[in-house]
Amino acid sequence: MKIMEIEGGRDLSGTIRISGAKNATVALIPAAILTDEEATICNVPEITDTDALCDILKELNVDVKRASESVVINPKDMKNVEIAEAFSKKLRASYYFMGALLGKYHKVVMYFPGGCSIGARPIDLHLKGFEALGATVKSEGNKYTVEAEELKGANIYLDIASVGATINIMLAAVRAKGKTVIDNAAKEPEIVNVATFLNNMGAKITGAGTSTIKIEGVTHLGKCFHEVIPDRIEAGTYVIIGALCGNPLKVDNIIPEHIDALLSKLEEAGVQLEVGADYVLVQKQDKYTATSIKTAVYPGFATDLQQPFTVLQTQMTGKSKTTETIWENRFMHIPYLKELGANIEVKNQTATVLGPTKLTGCEVVATDLRAGAAMVAAGLKAEGKTTITNVEHILRGYESIVEKLTNVGAKIKIKEV
Ligand code: EPZ
Repeated sequence: MKIMEIEGGRDLSGTIRISGAKNATVALIPAAILTDEEATICNVPEITDTDALCDILKELNVDVKRASESVVINPKDMKNVEIAEAFSKKLRASYYFMGALLGKYHKVVMYFPGGCSIGARPIDLHLKGFEALGATVKSEGNKYTVEAEELKGANIYLDIASVGATINIMLAAVRAKGKTVIDNAAKEPEIVNVATFLNNMGAKITGAGTSTIKIEGVTHLGKCFHEVIPDRIEAGTYVIIGALCGNPLKVDNIIPEHIDALLSKLEEAGVQLEVGADYVLVQKQDKYTATSIKTAVYPGFATDLQQPFTVLQTQMTGKSKTTETIWENRFMHIPYLKELGANIEVKNQTATVLGPTKLTGCEVVATDLRAGAAMVAAGLKAEGKTTITNVEHILRGYESIVEKLTNVGAKIKIKEV
């Protein structure tokens, strides 16, 4: 088991370079099998979710080569075999193999995906989308068989603007016959990145980044080279850490517009920010104004930044609220923040934080990926030593977190116990 130890209360100064986006990478890797030729994806983060997807590719007899920051995927000898539960349950994004394999072979057999326990996380919208394209879905317990004699373009309206369903339907539809229209599509930047990748291979997708995506099916997809966008959630996490401890902290290699909602909330709180073309410089202040947030689909305040933001709310003067609207179980970090000294009450889907409170290091748990990021942020602010268990969750999504923070002056290490 890995644990993380942080000696907190130190200022952080210098530059943190942001890696490629996890939630784009985890869709791009499965998407690469839609061609029979080589796809090179660069700016790929070294995180365990990337490793887990490459392991699935190997199970499918796909040639995968990892070099520094890039993955070269060649599926010319691939076999469409059943993906075992041990692989699918390692991460949520294993479900992108459903759309990709269905799109390429018209058949996929795999198990319900894993991922953070932040809610029920059904995949009904993905399956309804596949059915609209002409597939039948059979399930036995956790095992799903989705197959179609032929995939035909369709008009699909999503009841919820789901990121996963939007991407999965795109993957299944790129090689379908005719035109597919996805209405109420999710608009997250990761979706645009995946659509660009598919278009580079020869797909005909328009409207990605808006709520109507149109896909004209093609019969062949070819070779391509593609770059993963910077991770807006990793960027936002470090900007929040900068607001807590930065003196000053530069968060570099980012697309600031992708975190506009966070930046305006930070400005509202009184955080001193310099926003450049591809960086944000953050200088911590002694006093912040209470600021409330409500999570929403992009371009709203990202649910994935809500947990780290509550740490900053503990340093604001007065009553701040965080309302979570996407996931029903995303306050698991709150009991641990309270152990560190925070004054927080959770009622239904809203956490009310009374601040400012002093945080003091203690033993806490990373219950999920972004809860883990919140624990790191809190540990860096807290006086004394914070020990975080279940660190594996954090390593699923934050590349070289210890090195990046050490380089700006943090005292942080991971130990095997
Ligand atoms: C993606 O999850 C991200 N994961 C999540 O990031 C992120 O929190 C989420 O989008 C929202 O931004 C990946 O990209 C791998 P959704 P996803 O489908 O696609 C409901 C992180 O920390 N829903 O947009 O699974 C669902 O229950 C992770 O990096 C259905 O009801 O999210 C939720 O309430 C955690 N039926 C809402 O929609 C469905 O078929 C939004 O989910 C699909 C979703």
